[in-house]
Amino acid sequence: MALDIVVMAAGKGTRMKSARPKVLHRLAGRALLQHVLDAVQGLSADRLIVVTGHGAAEVEAAVAGEGRVFVRQEPQRGTGHAVQQALPVLHEEGTTLILNGDTPLIEPATARALVEASGGERLVLLTVQLADPTGYGRILREGEAVRAIVEQKDATPEQRAIREGYTGVMAAPTAALRRWLAALTCDNAQNEYYLTDVVAMAVAHGVPVVARAATSETEVLGVNSPAQLADLERRLQRRTAERLMAEGVRLADPARLDVRGSLECGTDVDIDVNCVFEGRVVLGDGVSIGANCVIRDAQIDAGAIVHPFTHIDGDGRPVRVGADARIGPFARLRPGAQLAAEVHIGNFVEVKNSTLARGAKANHLAYLGDATVGERVNYGAGSITANYDGANKHRTVIENDVHVGSNCVLIAPITLGAGATIGGGSTLGRDAPAGQLTVARPKAITVQGWKRPAKQKKD
Ligand code: UD1
Ligand code: MG
Repeated sequence: MALDIVVMAAGKGTRMKSARPKVLHRLAGRALLQHVLDAVQGLSADRLIVVTGHGAAEVEAAVAGEGRVFVRQEPQRGTGHAVQQALPVLHEEGTTLILNGDTPLIEPATARALVEASGGERLVLLTVQLADPTGYGRILREGEAVRAIVEQKDATPEQRAIREGYTGVMAAPTAALRRWLAALTCDNAQNEYYLTDVVAMAVAHGVPVVARAATSETEVLGVNSPAQLADLERRLQRRTAERLMAEGVRLADPARLDVRGSLECGTDVDIDVNCVFEGRVVLGDGVSIGANCVIRDAQIDAGAIVHPFTHIDGDGRPVRVGADARIGPFARLRPGAQLAAEVHIGNFVEVKNSTLARGAKANHLAYLGDATVGERVNYGAGSITANYDGANKHRTVIENDVHVGSNCVLIAPITLGAGATIGGGSTLGRDAPAGQLTVARPKAITVQGWKRPAKQKKD
């Protein structure tokens, strides 16, 4: 049987008070709408239709992907009107699953169960018992039987007391849905075409209406305001923290963790408070992450220690931190930083697009950009690679066992031969031979008989 999925994402989201279309606001690093699309991906629908309108071009660009069909709703005259726009691309028969683009945590299994319960014959509504149902459409029943949904703004005080709310997810027989949508009116408090009015029509036409309870409140909470967005973020982060702890990860405080992507951890991983993980982060066995670290797109191998306030950003070119490395505090690893085992990067050291071989150390106030650094190199405090000539980037090659003194400027392209020593304070514009001391700074002189100026007397 044909399965079509319609995700409504055309609304302005007035209550967000934001220039950004509501469905593009981010939850755990992904757009709200992206969460919904990911949740239904596994249902292998024949068509996955996204209704866009407010900020349509921006929304479509943000979630464009294989097999997605966009239909525009302009102007936006309500959820019923939104689904009307999708009618030309729906099958004649089968089931249509309709979801709100602002209800991001819907479980794939729940969506699947709704489709199965509909079977192209029944109207199945996902409902939830809410502690505070304000804003939600209320499920009206006669005895057990569902009779209709009434929207908050149209509800009587008695109806507002009902705590069973409509979640914004339904599965409908496509053929009947066509007829119902054609008959919608906007004779209501908001002067909109309500999708929820199809429930009373189904009842009137003798189509069975089934209400299914959501597995949890969190799964069906909609985002209409910054407060709701923040509430959902914390719930989702709590869920992630609990999953990690169940896997054995030791979180200093599960309430102070933010994972905005995927975080894979080995055994005996410790994560201190206020850490943010973005993109894809992999932590090996025994890795320890200090407080207040922000880590994006990185692989950190077994036994490495990342001290507090370190920023690792592998955006586009994942960062690799080798086994038993020591990073930070206050270190910055940028895209393309590839650190082998036992590398030490200390405070206020920045590494970008550079490879450091086993045991290399840069412990204080330094910059390594576009560099290839050999084993056991010691890179002194305050030294930098001058990798940019104003137009192009050039490489610095530092071979094994080189000792770069403090406060050196290495003007790339440049190669420091194996075992070379560079005297502190050198500004070096040519290669340094292996195994020798190279110094590039004026010789110290002592001026004989020099006297400090004395303060002049004012008359
Ligand atoms: C809707 C339901 C309400 C339910 C609640 C659950 C209706 C009439 N009401 O109310 O019963 O309890 O969701 O969260 O359906 N949209 C469009 N075009 C429009 C209007 C909205 O595409 O013209 C989209 C929005 O982008 C959003 C979704 O539909 O993704 C829901 O719209 P919203 O205005 O948030 O509806 P609610 O008032 O929350
Ligand atoms: Mg809503």
